[in-house]
Amino acid sequence: MKILGIETSCDETSVGIVDVTGEVMANVVATQVDIHARFGGIVPEVASRQHVIDVRPVVDESLKTAGVHWDDLDAIAVTHGPGLAGSLIIGLNTAKGLSASTGLPLVGVNHLEGHIFAAWGVSGDSREDRELLDGALAEGRSVMCLLVSGGHTELVLMHPDRRFELVGQTRDDAAGEAFDKAARVLGLRYPGGPEIQRVAETATKEPEPLSRAWMRGTNDFSFSGIKTAVLNRARKEGLYPAPSTPENGADGENGAHTEAVASLAKAFQDSVVDVLVTKTLNAATEFDCGAVVVAGGVAANGPLRTAFRQKSPVPVVIPPISLCTDNGAMIALAGIERFSNGERDGWSLDVEPGLRIGRS
Ligand code: KG4
Ligand code: ZN
Repeated sequence: MKILGIETSCDETSVGIVDVTGEVMANVVATQVDIHARFGGIVPEVASRQHVIDVRPVVDESLKTAGVHWDDLDAIAVTHGPGLAGSLIIGLNTAKGLSASTGLPLVGVNHLEGHIFAAWGVSGDSREDRELLDGALAEGRSVMCLLVSGGHTELVLMHPDRRFELVGQTRDDAAGEAFDKAARVLGLRYPGGPEIQRVAETATKEPEPLSRAWMRGTNDFSFSGIKTAVLNRARKEGLYPAPSTPENGADGENGAHTEAVASLAKAFQDSVVDVLVTKTLNAATEFDCGAVVVAGGVAANGPLRTAFRQKSPVPVVIPPISLCTDNGAMIALAGIERFSNGERDGWSLDVEPGLRIGRS
C-alpha cells in the first residue's frame, strides 16, 4: 500500500509518498520562508497564492522522486485543518481534483495527527523507532506525545488503541510562537526558532536564567510570561528596539550579533526547553507511558532533542528534522493510519481551520 500526502496548511507546499511499512519514498517541500521573511511573519493571502503556483509541480516531483505512477498509489491524503483557511483550501481542492481524475480514494488528515505520526516514518534502514512505539502500544502502554509547533503546544496521550486524548495545552502562546516573538525582539530573522538556536550557540558563558512558568498541578503550559521577560531584559540592556546596524548589535546580513543578544537568546531557549522537557516527562510518568514522542516544528530544536534524550527514563522518539517541520510525508503517514482503518472522505470534506486533536 502506498499513499500520497498533500500539506498546505501554512507556508510550506509539500507532498510526500510513503508505503505501509512507513518508508518515506518522497518528501518534497517548496518553502515560502524567504517570501514571508521580509514581512516578519506569514502573510495569509501571499501564502495561498504561492501554494497555487507550487502545488502541482511539487506533486509531480514527488511522484518522480518516489519512482511511482498514479496506478501504484492506493489513496490521496490531505491536510484539511487546522491552519490558514486560504492555504488549506488549495491543498484540499488539489487533492479532490486528483482524486476525481485518478479514481483514488480521498483521506482527510488532521495536521496535528500528521506531526505525531511523523514519528512512525522510516527513512533509511532504521525501523527501530517505529517498532519501539508499536511495541509499547502492543504491551498496553500509552505514548505521551508533545506537540510543539508555531501554533500549538499540547500534550496528547496516545492510548494503546491509538486513540488520542488531550491532557495538557498552552494557556496562551505556543512555544514556536514564543521563539518567533523573542527572535523579533532580538532583531533576528523570521522564522525565529532556528535563528534563536543558531545565535544561542555562540554565547560564551552561562546567562542569567530567565523565569520558568511551571503551571504546577496541571499539565498545561504558559509562554507569554517568558516573552515579556525577554522584552524587559532586552529593553534594560539597550537591545530593544533592535539596533538597525550590525555594528550596534543587530543581526546583520552576515549573521553578526553581540554577546548580549546571544546570551539573552540562550537564556530564553534554556527556559523553554527546561519547561517542555520537565513537564512532558512528568506527564509521561503520571500516565505510566511506555515511550515519549516529540513532534512539530520546535522538535527540530537541537538542545530540546538532546535534553529529552538525556533526561527521559523511557525511550524518546523524535523524527528527523525533515519530518518535524511541516511536510507531506507526515500527512501520508497519518493517512495510512486512517486508510488502514477503513476511513475515507467524500466530496463534502471541507477545510477546518480550527480543527483540534484528542478532544471528545
Ligand atoms: O510545525 P511547524 O513547521 O509549523 C506549524 O504547524 O506551526 O512549526 C513552525 C515553528 C516556528 O515557530 C519555528 O520558529 C519553529 O517551529 N522552529 C524551531 C526550530 N525550527 C523551527 N523552534 C526552535 N528551534 C528550531 N530549530
Ligand atoms: Zn505544523
